[in-house]
Amino acid sequence: MELLELFKKRYSCRGFEKREVEQEKIDMIMEAAAVAPTAVNKQPQRILVLRGEELKKVDECTRFGFDAPLNFLICYDKEQSWHRRSDNADHGMIDSAIVHTHMLLMAESLGLGTTWVCAFDEPKARELFNVPDNYVIEGFMPTGYPAAEPSEMHFKRKPVNEIFFDKF
Ligand SMILES: Cc1cc2nc3c(=O)[nH]c(=O)nc-3n(C[C@H](O)[C@H](O)[C@H](O)COP(=O)(O)O)c2cc1C
Repeated sequence: MELLELFKKRYSCRGFEKREVEQEKIDMIMEAAAVAPTAVNKQPQRILVLRGEELKKVDECTRFGFDAPLNFLICYDKEQSWHRRSDNADHGMIDSAIVHTHMLLMAESLGLGTTWVCAFDEPKARELFNVPDNYVIEGFMPTGYPAAEPSEMHFKRKPVNEIFFDKF
């Protein structure tokens, strides 16, 4: 599939079939996360794969779990991420967003649906999933075989000429 076609086909999937995602597909999503570019190649991403009983905790910290049969908690280690020398800006969240994007596009190419979820109770998630103090939580990625259509937001995109300029 052409890359642009894949980008356009992907939408935030907020309903899933009950069926499990095959381990081979999970492996490919993991590999996509591992090959993502990161600042100074620090590779600070640390990701929990949530299955089975662990999934019950998701609903305790977000209303955006969508009963997915698989979820990922995407974090990064702020002691490993690159901090720019001039202003100490931590680039771990940028790294994590790239990793997350790799994962969701990989999932899409495998016929799986996902949603990027940042609306969650951070302290609750940290406690429930025993996230170490030096890890920053970027978000969840509920994943599974799609059983929901795109929301109307999916069809609202600004035209390219409202985003790109020759001069500000
Ligand atoms: C950083 C980020 C955070 C998001 N958080 C949530 C969320 O917590 N819950 C949710 O239902 N969708 C969330 N979304 C999905 C967006 O609402 C969605 O991508 C946008 O409306 C465009 O729709 P589409 O993905 O179907 O094309 C998030 C997306 C991004 C990129």
